[in-house]
Amino acid sequence: MMKLLIAGNWKMNLSVTDTEAMLSELKNKTRSDDVDSLIIPPFTSLDAARKLLDGTGIALGAQNLSHEDDGAFTGEISADMLLDLGVSHVLVGHSERREYQKETDALLNLKVKKAVAKGLIPILCVGEKKADRDSGEHESVVGNQLKKGLEGVHTTDIIVAYEPTWAIGTGDVCKPDDAQAMAAFIKGELKDLLGTDAVRVLYGGSVKPSNVKELMAQPSIDGALVGGASLKADDFAALINLG
Ligand code: G3P
Repeated sequence: MMKLLIAGNWKMNLSVTDTEAMLSELKNKTRSDDVDSLIIPPFTSLDAARKLLDGTGIALGAQNLSHEDDGAFTGEISADMLLDLGVSHVLVGHSERREYQKETDALLNLKVKKAVAKGLIPILCVGEKKADRDSGEHESVVGNQLKKGLEGVHTTDIIVAYEPTWAIGTGDVCKPDDAQAMAAFIKGELKDLLGTDAVRVLYGGSVKPSNVKELMAQPSIDGALVGGASLKADDFAALINLG
């Protein structure tokens, strides 16, 4: 089994001052060395977060990157800019970006390739909508997102996060058995696409201290991508300690 990774995606939350307060508190909490951890704050907090995370063993991630290198792309952030700030991981294709920014699988594929080429670890997010699950289409939707998102990618230095959209921020967590089944399905797809299933598969969607242990005990789940419950030091420390 792979070492678990608990990643906190803060989304559009926490100012620089809030970031400093949260991470100063988190640093003083005991954390298990058996679990890797990652904080993914908004761009505006990356620099402050890097300074506070230095020497803690907690890695730093970003929520998005441009598929371009540099130039006239107003509002975009490049891979080099992220590397400059000590970022090691980057989310690609979170369902909120697929939905609100209309990011397509083709664009996400370019972003994955850019991250890999620059030495960042992309966390490709996939997941079905409620209607897809109700109609039994969840595997084909997720399989398609993987196939298109990873086209032409030949590395195992990536992470996949399975986040069914109906479980995000709703408190309606995916049943551990269902999350396990999808993680196992994703590993099977990764074996076909990359020739190996030695790639971490995270589960995301209403993970909290009270359900993290059961979810993380599933054999094909290698970690969690957490939104709401990653915003407070107490909660995040509890997640890293698996409840
Ligand atoms: O990326 C994490 C996320 O989408 C899950 O959010 O608030 O349901 O833990 P939440």
